[in-house]
Amino acid sequence: MKLFGLHKLKTAVFISGTGSNLKNLIKFSLQRKSPILIKLIISDNKNAKGLVFSKKYKIQKKTYNFINKRKDEKKIIKFLRKNNINLICLAGFMKILSKNFIKNFKGKILNIHPSLLPKYKGLNTHFRAIKNKEKFSGCTVHFVTSKLDSGKIILQKRVKIAKKDTPITLSKKILVQEHLLYPKAISKLFTNP
Ligand code: GAR
Repeated sequence: MKLFGLHKLKTAVFISGTGSNLKNLIKFSLQRKSPILIKLIISDNKNAKGLVFSKKYKIQKKTYNFINKRKDEKKIIKFLRKNNINLICLAGFMKILSKNFIKNFKGKILNIHPSLLPKYKGLNTHFRAIKNKEKFSGCTVHFVTSKLDSGKIILQKRVKIAKKDTPITLSKKILVQEHLLYPKAISKLFTNP
């Protein structure tokens, strides 16, 4: 799907925590040439630090606790449809969306994952990469399908693991690259050459 003219993709960003990728995507979306417009922030955690960006950038937010996942997903689908959302960016969203949810937004959900997929799907990626004495890790932007961290890869960036790296130092290095990679992947998908 390529974008023409001024029509920007109405985007919802899903977060669970700090929201540095959210902040970065908001800044990207504010650029004139950006193909996205962030309309909604959705979180499964009412204490997510990243929710502060809702007020700062005047973007509507909603939180759902996911205790009843089926019901909450139904409510989210309704809310996204009401707002004509046509792109969902998962950005540090730590819940696994159901097959039904994904089916409702087929091909319209992106995720950023802090590893070189297909390596290190799931959690504790940095710890596992270091433990396995990998020379490189990195980050991946991919389409979301019903199989965890397995959808088609859009872009990846490699990051060298130094001998002295800990999961914390490595996560910081990778996060810097995530902030470059996510906008680049979105532009690759939706901007005219
Ligand atoms: C990021 O490193 C993101 O790749 C990761 O969580 C962090 C969120 O940081 N996502 C996952 O692990 C998803 N499985 P942020 O809240 O500062 O954007």
